[in-house]
Amino acid sequence: MNRLITFEGVDGCGKSTQLQRAATWLRGQGHDVVSTFEPGDTGLGKEIRSLLLAGEFVPVPETELLLFLADRAQHVRDVIVPALQSGAWVLCDRYSDSTLAYQLAARKLGQGAANLGQMLRFAECGVSPALTLWFDVPVDESMRRMKQRAESGEKATRLDDEAISFHERVAAAFGRQYASEPERMIRIDAEQGMDDVERQVTGELTRRFGLMA
Ligand code: TYD
Repeated sequence: MNRLITFEGVDGCGKSTQLQRAATWLRGQGHDVVSTFEPGDTGLGKEIRSLLLAGEFVPVPETELLLFLADRAQHVRDVIVPALQSGAWVLCDRYSDSTLAYQLAARKLGQGAANLGQMLRFAECGVSPALTLWFDVPVDESMRRMKQRAESGEKATRLDDEAISFHERVAAAFGRQYASEPERMIRIDAEQGMDDVERQVTGELTRRFGLMA
């Protein structure tokens, strides 16, 4: 059974906190859970992440896309596939929907080449999510949260510092993706408080996978 669940949304949508909470909740029910993230959760991926996000180099959009995809293929084969084969749930912070939203939509790479969707599938090495939780929050709220994080000393990545119009294109792309795949993607109202958001997440997991409430 495919138990890959991906967590998606704009920066500052709260998905990473919710991923940890969902992992704790599933473990409490006796399940094995591997929580992981992109980019950067393999030895090689850590290097790719630093190339992508540290800000020392600014890749051209094409290079940026290829590096995210390289990180994904390594991650799928090194981490996700072994975990799924062992019977664990895999909760992954970002996956192909992020590439679609950030590189294909916000960087506008998807406009010319129709076969980029095939490249996304290629990097997945045959592993698509069983379910994707999209944490929907207005861009101005996500910007406010990111500002708060920066003030509390959290270091911003190169992409966090993009213009608001970039983040608006990212958000719009997630919305379109949700509209086109309502079976796979679930919209979580991430503007609520953390406990309410957690209740939505565990409610959806319970319904989708027949878990105990
Ligand atoms: P990270 O610090 O992990 O932030 P977050 O908690 O928001 O996930 O930074 C990851 C950044 O990389 C984030 O800005 C989204 C971006 N990204 C892409 O542009 N394309 C991708 O395919 C992925 C996986 C991430």
